[in-house]
Amino acid sequence: MSDLKKIRDEFISKLKGKLNLSEINQIKSELFGKNGLVSSQFKKIGTIVESERKKFATDLNVIKDELQDLINSKIDEVENAEINKKLDKEKIDITLPERPFVRGKIHPVSQTIDEISSIFSEIGFSVEEGPDVENEYNNFTALNTPDDHPARDMHDTFYLDEKKQKLLRTHTSPVQIRTMLKDKPPFKIIAPGRTYRSDSDQTHAPMFHQVEGLHIDKNINMGHLKGCLNYLIKEFFEVDKIKMRFRPSHFPFTEPSAEVDIGYEMKNGKIIIGEGNQWLEILGCGMVHPNVLKNVKVDPTKFQGYAFGIGIDRLAMLKYGINDLRAFFDCDYRWLSHFGFDPLDVPTNYRGLSR
Ligand code: DAH
Repeated sequence: MSDLKKIRDEFISKLKGKLNLSEINQIKSELFGKNGLVSSQFKKIGTIVESERKKFATDLNVIKDELQDLINSKIDEVENAEINKKLDKEKIDITLPERPFVRGKIHPVSQTIDEISSIFSEIGFSVEEGPDVENEYNNFTALNTPDDHPARDMHDTFYLDEKKQKLLRTHTSPVQIRTMLKDKPPFKIIAPGRTYRSDSDQTHAPMFHQVEGLHIDKNINMGHLKGCLNYLIKEFFEVDKIKMRFRPSHFPFTEPSAEVDIGYEMKNGKIIIGEGNQWLEILGCGMVHPNVLKNVKVDPTKFQGYAFGIGIDRLAMLKYGINDLRAFFDCDYRWLSHFGFDPLDVPTNYRGLSR
């Protein structure tokens, strides 16, 4: 038997046995390593007499291919067996309860917006949204605040272009305009969202939150406004008794206009809503000015109604005992895990808002 045939038979029978990966690699280098048995046969080709050289080379290549194929398929076989063994061992039981892990929390401002939306949805208000980047017309002009109106200066507006056409909305009131322009009365909406003014100290942040309210229909009067706000404050603070006072005020987009304060007292460092004789301003409101209705093509001789704008951050601070407004925007995870809410505990009126 020739050397070649001997090598072939010997290794084919070896490779048929049960081998692990390192044994197969050992065989591989025995055959095809630098001084391996097959590699050295290749080196011999030049020394073989010419008449036999061609046949030798052909046989050698056939044997080389055969052995290489066998080695490769053996490696595949062993690797697959190993993977399958692992998969068998590493089954996951998806019926097991989840591992306890730290879950994100709902920010008190988001919680407050959800609560207020839930309260208003109970009395038929739907939620509208508008963009943070507004145009000057919706933010001021359509709201009966012409160019030279002093109220514009009071808003510390962030303008986004030199012509003062684009701005960061200074209040949520432009959503009134957007809503009335795209639909026909009656309107009964709230619009929560971010608002911006160039103002920053312990009680003011350049970005803050408001909820706008708008109710336009036939025969709506200030009594409806009072009833609505009374209901809101009671539900929001989850108390039966509140003290609320309307102070005459001025907004270009309402006539008459009022600011609303709620009565509270401090007891042992805690705020008690509905007791005592201290007052805190929480919102502006009034009967929508006929000019505003005209600007959005609503006939003020047929339709009228009220509007209000509430500062959300302040309500959240009051309800949840947070005394520094700036903490809302610090993104401190420790603060959020203390003051935040469970994401799965969505506020509803009947279950309690802030359990
Ligand atoms: N937009 C006013 C502000 O930011 C608040 C406000 C007052 C909104 C009266 C209203 C309103 O809708 O009727 O100061």
